[in-house]
Amino acid sequence: MAERPAHVPPERVVDFDIYNPPGVEAGFHAAWAALHAQGVPDLVWTPHNGGHWVATRGRLISAVYEDYARFSNRTMLVPKLPMPDGRDARHIVPSYIDPPEHRPYRNLLNSTFAPKAISTIEGKIRDIAVALIEKVRACGRCDFISDYAEMLPIQVFMSLVELPLSDAPMLKSWAERITNPRKGASVEETRHSIEEAHELLHAYLAPHIEARLGGDGDDMFSRMINGRIGDRPLTKSEMRDMCTQVMFGGLDTVVNSLGFVMLHLATTPAHREALAADPAGIPAAIDEFIRRYPVVTVGREVRDDMVLDGVQLMRGEMIMAPTPLAGLDDRLNERPFDVDFERPCIEHTSFGNGVHRCPGAQLARTELRITLEEWLARIPGLEVAPGARVSFRGGVVGRIEKPLPLVWAAPPRP
Ligand code: HEM
Repeated sequence: MAERPAHVPPERVVDFDIYNPPGVEAGFHAAWAALHAQGVPDLVWTPHNGGHWVATRGRLISAVYEDYARFSNRTMLVPKLPMPDGRDARHIVPSYIDPPEHRPYRNLLNSTFAPKAISTIEGKIRDIAVALIEKVRACGRCDFISDYAEMLPIQVFMSLVELPLSDAPMLKSWAERITNPRKGASVEETRHSIEEAHELLHAYLAPHIEARLGGDGDDMFSRMINGRIGDRPLTKSEMRDMCTQVMFGGLDTVVNSLGFVMLHLATTPAHREALAADPAGIPAAIDEFIRRYPVVTVGREVRDDMVLDGVQLMRGEMIMAPTPLAGLDDRLNERPFDVDFERPCIEHTSFGNGVHRCPGAQLARTELRITLEEWLARIPGLEVAPGARVSFRGGVVGRIEKPLPLVWAAPPRP
């Protein structure tokens, strides 16, 4: 807990841990909505996680993501974990760099994730989804998180980059250490654990990068590794960073978006039945789900002293831009907690905004769409197991605690 600095007005201070919002166990998004209560300013300061600002309304959140001239990606998470060279321990290309340096890396990512590239892998994604569903279908029950949500994105990733599926659990455990530091660990322990996980990951990736370098492989890694930054090839460290970033970007985010969407369908028979009866409505439903169930909270470092929303911010301070507070802001979307597939205009920053906006959005949408198409075609009557208590957790990515037990009428045994 940090002391309130003199320039922070007392009326802007809230007792709110963004990684553990009060009441989060009962509802991740409802817990965030406490910052939309009457009287809470658009910009608040919390002493948790080293002390930082939090933008609470959609317009401001969107502006923070967009305005790289005033808000830098040099640090994106709290508490800050500065290394001796001043960079954050989690520094990784391209997430932790700003324009103009960011641009050529981003061009490479954009071409890797171009809609055409994603549509060509749709078949692979569908095969993985169907295999996972068929594995549990006859049982009449599953833990949706362990049996499906955690499996799909990592298997899709391993298949896109042509890495052995048997390595997936190891990669996931390193990703977990970097993106979800152990609760109660000191800053020093967290920094050490992150560095170690990065080293393990780099050692793992090195031979795979080497094997693809200079080749004409068409997998996503090969295309990225053999791409160019302006007029030069990538350095080895840039190759590792880009591979790592793409992998991390698409794991927890997809896992938990899948979880929230499936929990919604399992508890809302009318929506489940409507989409099962008319799968053509699924893409529009996905857009609304992405607005209603945002999961990511990252932020920016204030570049220079400035006044924002009428208060003084100082150079180097952190301002967090929680995406749950954008899609669920009633100034942007009427009745924001309702899921309404007919909503005429949907506003959110669930995939961020501006130059760092998620390049994997199309892939994420495709994974969500195929999931709904295949689950609802095969198991239209799924529900949450009677008596099960579903609970939630905060973090850089909000999550449903395992298990999320779903049940359905199992097909009769042959
Ligand atoms: C529902 C799923 C997803 C959500 C909610 C999500 C959300 C986000 C958000 C909010 C950002 C912006 C961070 C910032 O502005 O600092 C971002 C960036 C990024 N995402 Fe995603 N993401 C998802 C899926 C994916 C997938 C499937 C991939 C790739 C496999 C991916 C790769 C990335 C990368 C590489 C960046 C960094 C881009 C840059 O710094 O230029 N994401 N994502």
